[in-house]
Amino acid sequence: MNSLLIKNAKLRNHDELKSILVENGRISRIDEGISAENLETIDAKGNLVIPPFVDPHVHLDAVLSAGDLSRPNKSGTLLEAIDIWGERKPFLTKEILKENAREVVKWYIANGVLRVRTHADCSDPTLVTVESLVELREEVKDLIDIQVVAFPQNGIFTKPDGVTLLRKALEIGADVVGGAPHIEYTREDGVKDVEFVYHLAEEFDKLIDIHIDETGDPHSRFIEVMAKENIVRGWQGRAAASHTTAMHNYNNDYAFKLLGILKKADMNMITNPFDNSVLQNRTDGYPRKRGHTRVDELLARGVNVCIGHDSIMDPWYSMGKGNMIAAANLLAHTAHMNGHDQITMLMDMITTRSARTLAVEETYGLEAGKQADIVILDARNDAEAVRLTSECLYVIRKGKVICRTTPAVRTLEIVENLELVDFKLK
Ligand code: FE2
Repeated sequence: MNSLLIKNAKLRNHDELKSILVENGRISRIDEGISAENLETIDAKGNLVIPPFVDPHVHLDAVLSAGDLSRPNKSGTLLEAIDIWGERKPFLTKEILKENAREVVKWYIANGVLRVRTHADCSDPTLVTVESLVELREEVKDLIDIQVVAFPQNGIFTKPDGVTLLRKALEIGADVVGGAPHIEYTREDGVKDVEFVYHLAEEFDKLIDIHIDETGDPHSRFIEVMAKENIVRGWQGRAAASHTTAMHNYNNDYAFKLLGILKKADMNMITNPFDNSVLQNRTDGYPRKRGHTRVDELLARGVNVCIGHDSIMDPWYSMGKGNMIAAANLLAHTAHMNGHDQITMLMDMITTRSARTLAVEETYGLEAGKQADIVILDARNDAEAVRLTSECLYVIRKGKVICRTTPAVRTLEIVENLELVDFKLK
């Protein structure tokens, strides 16, 4: 197994530089000035050393599909994206699905993302999406940890086989039960959708992650149903609510009450800045609101909130490259999260807070005894990392370097002596 020493590491919340000793794929010691002979040694040179980034919300079955077999999303709306995805589904094969997802796994590794939760659309009778991602999860498990959510993209009760397919997706290996109550035809079916997800999760002993209130409609209030289930069934801390963008538009009196219930339910909330900023409140005209959930208010109440990527080049969002710092940087702007302490919070939201949502804290983190998954950034602190959307100089998995990045070198030729520019304060 792999052993190495990282010297001059700047850890978050520590002033002095540290050494990290890795033995047999695990962190064995973190201290000042550790020396070890005959061991691969990396000099972090005072750069920030962190546990890997976590993406708690992506759709790996749809990645890289923008513009290949699909027509472009001309309106840019969520509903046209769902239509395009529906047209594409009959042409999906395991080969295409795995090839695209495999490519994005490489992008994630290059971006220091080593824990991922992906949704897999389970509304098609072939369940080829679920099968493909379950197989891929096993194929890449030495490099990256993937959780697969059985995700009823078209709702559970909008067609006769919805329940059977969700159940089958769990039987073939999905790790997490998903739902989509706001997609159901009626409010009553939406409530049933949430309740059924809890029922199934208890039956199969799985985690829960529901796409919920992913709309700008202030009357979409399924999150209150989910919070109630979480409280009465004793699911505190274990279930995730993805998107909750309608909360942006709730009236403040209702939101104030709801935030207290979410705290009591100990929900894990996932906001997705890339997709939410372009898909929600699309029919506003002016003024244009931004469709992210109430991030700062949730955090102020002590609710766990983390950041997902959601789409990477698909009908919903045609951009992206699997970079979680870029998602955090965007949220800093769209959610007014640019205060000094909030920048630090953004880094938590793409690392430790996401790890809590995925329930992987046991193996995750820079502590003696934990698996040596480590990222060395090209930045000296959180603010610099978020400002520069810094590169990952080294990505280390179980004590082995699996990606090295050489940042771009920019040489100014406008003065007599050539000068390098790296956008950092001297
Ligand atoms: Fe999503």
